[in-house]
Amino acid sequence: MQKIQSLAETYKNYFKIGAAVTVEDLQGLHGDLLKRHFNSITAENAMKFGEIHPKEDWYDFEKADKMKEFALNNNMKMRGHTFVWHNQTSDWVFLDKNGREASRELVLERLKEHVKVVCNRYKDVVYAWDVVNEAIEDKLNEQYRDTKWRRILGEDYIKTVFEIVKAEDSEAALIYNDYNNEIPYKMEKTYKMLKELVEKGTPMDGVGLQAHWNIWDRNLIGNLRKAIERYASLGLQIQITEMDVSMFEFEDRRKDLVEPTSEMLYLQEMVYDNIFSVFREYKDVITSVTFWGVSDKYTWKDNFPVPGRKDWPLIFDVKSQPKASFNRIVDF
Ligand code: GLA
Repeated sequence: MQKIQSLAETYKNYFKIGAAVTVEDLQGLHGDLLKRHFNSITAENAMKFGEIHPKEDWYDFEKADKMKEFALNNNMKMRGHTFVWHNQTSDWVFLDKNGREASRELVLERLKEHVKVVCNRYKDVVYAWDVVNEAIEDKLNEQYRDTKWRRILGEDYIKTVFEIVKAEDSEAALIYNDYNNEIPYKMEKTYKMLKELVEKGTPMDGVGLQAHWNIWDRNLIGNLRKAIERYASLGLQIQITEMDVSMFEFEDRRKDLVEPTSEMLYLQEMVYDNIFSVFREYKDVITSVTFWGVSDKYTWKDNFPVPGRKDWPLIFDVKSQPKASFNRIVDF
């Protein structure tokens, strides 16, 4: 591999630079890219409740342990993703031994145990936990997403969950993470929730903007700035937790492309350039910026929202080479 300028090194006085990883990414070309350009990793799936704790009496630490070892060997830190989420959580968590919905006490006890085990195993390398993921409802006029966690633990559950994690790891940043939370409809709801949580004394340190973006959104930069300022006004730090810049608008279901057009690549370059200049401007409140993947060779966007449609949302191409977008963000 050519010795190109290191992204993490370039940003070392700004914020951490992260990537979401699978265990396969720790080797080969992706392993090389991680070592050179990143100083933070997030398990794409391996630390989600359903993956790491599939049965009540069985934890599967294998993949997460490999990631931790890789991080420690390469002087990196990890983001812990995620404790309380409505997806990819094992069903047993919410059921009692008779197969009926578990009581609040039982679910709380299980969550405490889970958090204790996972925090104690990884807290030496984890600098931030996504404590609660995606609790805000997308539908207009509704504030909270109706989830089993909320139904069983009660309306005050978010504060309770942050307290549980705080009791096990008093040092890492505790983050509330969500998507579209820079878009006005969801930003205002999120701001309201975070403000209440802060006022109630919740041990919450920051908000995660997932940043699943695309090249066509003309409002992105304006929305992003406004969101950063609003959230920072609550005294919270901001992390960009799952960034990718898709070639397709969400509603666009076209499937005809085998490679991105030059127009697309150019727009992507501009978007990355603009968002990183906003990130740099707000470096006092932004503590990390994580891409949701390593290179365009593999991205969850290849299967979402259109199964099997290739997308190219990252800054390294399908051959793990830096794209024009990469050059833009290291050159300022
Ligand atoms: C959400 C989750 C992530 C991941 C993505 C899709 O954003 O927070 O863990 O599942 O969806 O990959």
